[in-house]
Amino acid sequence: MASGARLFSACVGLLLSCAGANYGSWMNLGMQGLDVWRNPQIYMVGTSPLCGQIRGLSPGQRKLCQLRQDHMRSVGRGARAGIAECQHQFSSSRWNCSTVDDSSVFGPVLQIPSREAAFAHSIAAAGVVMSVSRACRDGQLASCGCSRSARPADLDPDWTWGGCGDNIRYGYRFATNFVDIRERERRYKRGSVKHGRSLMNLHNNEAGRRAVIDLTKVNCKCHGVSGSCSTVTCWQRLPAFREVGDTLKDKYDGATEVKVTRRGRLRVRNRRYRRPTANDLVYIQESPDYCRRNDTLGSSGTTGRACERTSKGTDGCGLLCCGRGYNTQRITVNERCQCKFVWCCKVQCQSCLRQKTVHTCK
Ligand SMILES: *[C@@H]1O[C@H](CO)[C@@H](O)[C@H](O)[C@H]1NC(C)=O
Ligand SMILES: *[C@@H]1O[C@H](CO)[C@@H](O)[C@H](O)[C@H]1NC(C)=O
Repeated sequence: MASGARLFSACVGLLLSCAGANYGSWMNLGMQGLDVWRNPQIYMVGTSPLCGQIRGLSPGQRKLCQLRQDHMRSVGRGARAGIAECQHQFSSSRWNCSTVDDSSVFGPVLQIPSREAAFAHSIAAAGVVMSVSRACRDGQLASCGCSRSARPADLDPDWTWGGCGDNIRYGYRFATNFVDIRERERRYKRGSVKHGRSLMNLHNNEAGRRAVIDLTKVNCKCHGVSGSCSTVTCWQRLPAFREVGDTLKDKYDGATEVKVTRRGRLRVRNRRYRRPTANDLVYIQESPDYCRRNDTLGSSGTTGRACERTSKGTDGCGLLCCGRGYNTQRITVNERCQCKFVWCCKVQCQSCLRQKTVHTCK
């Protein structure tokens, strides 16, 4: 009763952030997940209380957590990598992918079915594919091992296929089950706003997973005495996560606005645009401008953000400060300088004080 009353008073006038708090996100595993799953003993016996304690999981995700306890550390890692990559990709944008201290992870602002929400879902889903595929290869999971994918048809016939590769097929399957289940377990009224959001999430989760698959490579290595290449072994290998992030950022820039039809399908809003493929990102609502702090919206605004005075891009003071102008400050920074290579094998530097001009948004 008491907690109900507190929840109620916290919600008055804050409808958006209240919805955020109720919603929660599985990506919360990336915020708190790593520490709690560190010790393998605790999850080998029976049901783990941890699966019930992690906030942000849906009922279906809790069941999967119990069933595959040893996977949860990888899921947490994947989510955390996704969040870090999001912050890298958006470090010079008005929305900078910052997280808040509750189970919604990104705060109420991603309750809006925006491009930013599309990106966040896709990169987190990609992160889980990556971390689970790698964990299989590294023998950390009971139910999978090295990749058993078929030999590529164009591989040199003299080369051996089948070193221990990243198990991307398994990572993809697991990420699909775990990430998508929360969208599938609720029965929304067909064509409703919530149904639309759910379809949008499913689409973008898949686009993220496909980005990993499309960038997957074949890696080969020479073996033989003293550098001779008498045998070559090749295996399936994950791309660098940065490549996935760059690709999805391009998809974000070219994302397609869609709406949900009464029949419960997503359809391109403006018919002049082509239909998005399963690799593209989709969104339902235009983003707010993220310029000013708005706690209802959960936007921290751009006041105080560092900007580039002469840049015309998103990191430029013009766009980033939303026309409010900027402050200029001379600051002194301590830098490594006059670095010398010392035989062998060190680099020695001195530290120098340097004057630097920084601009920050008003
Ligand atoms: C995002 O910008 C806000 C200021 O608007 C800042 O407080 C926050 O630390 C930034 N977050 C990241 C992840 O850079
Ligand atoms: C915050 O955003 C909401 C939703 O866009 C808007 O209705 C409200 O007026 C904004 N509040 C302020 C203080 O700008």
